[in-house]
Amino acid sequence: MRHAALGVVLALLAGAVMAPAQAEGGFDWPLPDWMPRPPVPEDNPMSAVKVELGRHLFYDARLSGDGTVACASCHDPARAFTDGRDRAVGIHGTVGNLNAPSLANVAYLPVNAWANPHMTSLEFQALVPLFGDAPDEMGATGQESRIFATLATDPNYSRAFAAAFPDRPGPDLFTVTRALAAFQRSLTSFDSPYDRFKYGGDLDALSEAAKRGEQLFFDHRFECYHCHQGVLFTDNFQREGSPWVETGFHNTGLYADYPATAPGRIEITGEPGDAGLFRTPSLRNVAVTAPYMHDGSIADLRGVLAHYARGGREGHANQDGMIVGFQASEAEIDDILAFLNSLTDETFLTNPAHADPWPDDHLARINRAAP
Ligand code: HEC
Ligand code: HEC
Repeated sequence: MRHAALGVVLALLAGAVMAPAQAEGGFDWPLPDWMPRPPVPEDNPMSAVKVELGRHLFYDARLSGDGTVACASCHDPARAFTDGRDRAVGIHGTVGNLNAPSLANVAYLPVNAWANPHMTSLEFQALVPLFGDAPDEMGATGQESRIFATLATDPNYSRAFAAAFPDRPGPDLFTVTRALAAFQRSLTSFDSPYDRFKYGGDLDALSEAAKRGEQLFFDHRFECYHCHQGVLFTDNFQREGSPWVETGFHNTGLYADYPATAPGRIEITGEPGDAGLFRTPSLRNVAVTAPYMHDGSIADLRGVLAHYARGGREGHANQDGMIVGFQASEAEIDDILAFLNSLTDETFLTNPAHADPWPDDHLARINRAAP
């Protein structure tokens, strides 16, 4: 578990208690009419200027201890904000224990971690990569004042912080984590061929193979939809105006004995029944987020299907009762793969509103580790 330094947490909470007035409005949710908005915390209203500030911070390597790691170093828009690695690599080449998850539609996820059910806020989550030390990701601990002072000298930021936080117009933990969270809430992805077929009424948007694959995905023989359900293809969901949230963690039988470096929800709860339980990932854009699972231990989607067909890779005492294995022909596997491929939203992957805003030779970017 990666604990943010206590002082940091207290500073952030103090900020929350004294929440200053912030610019509101002016943010148009880029959502289709069939999709409700995600919840937004009262102390961090959305605004176009704040989202734009958050985008600059997200791609700014100066937020890290040595100016080489940005959020974008592990969350690349072309890969639906994943990094193509099995496990994330942070500052000084530190290899972590977990795979970097996609940030597509992250605002709709009530829990923002593979295995920590208490990680329920994007504002708070940002402290983990910035200040966490097990593993080190951005290594900012102890360097906060220097980092914020550096950001404050950037003319882009003087204007942007003043616009987004008129009563508190400078970079600090309160403003930086809130702007990052606002940007991430704007990362919605609902324009895949499957969406055009299913919700947009375009019957030609899917191939015949993908249509057959959809039937199989929702069939009892395969049971995929029990956990990968609803509009995000996960049993984790929250939306605006609903006090009710859904969270789903399961053991899919990857290991007979989960390693201590990534043991699942038990790491937080200490409950033996939580060994090997991880949050069900959304399958939106899954074709571009390889490698797969919490530790990136399966290289491709065919491998994931082989794991389920076998009824778990190694099998575990806590393995979910839905994962019992199945017989499928090669043609059926190809159809399920065609369906999973139809969940890729090209508009999202290439959306200029999500892209790196910094010029090539800017300090925010020049030393930034590529994903
Ligand atoms: C070194 C690579 C790395 C860097 C840098 C990094 N992340 Fe992550 N990110 C990860 C990994 C690995 C996880 C999974 C952590 C976990 O489950 O405990 C993650 C998880 C997340 C999540 C949860 C997503 C979900 O599915 O709910 C969010 C949000 C996130 N990161 C945002 C950020 C932000 C904002 C920054 C910059 C301040 C950042 N990350 C920097 C690797 C990284
Ligand atoms: C019992 C619930 C459950 C069932 C049933 C289930 N999954 Fe999963 N799925 C999960 C969980 C939990 C994970 C993450 C497990 C981990 O990383 O340890 C996952 C991971 C995945 C991943 C990797 C995604 C990523 O981003 O790494 C894919 C792809 C996937 N499942 C597809 C399927 C398909 C296809 C089926 C049906 C054959 C299926 N799942 C059945 C719960 C389930």
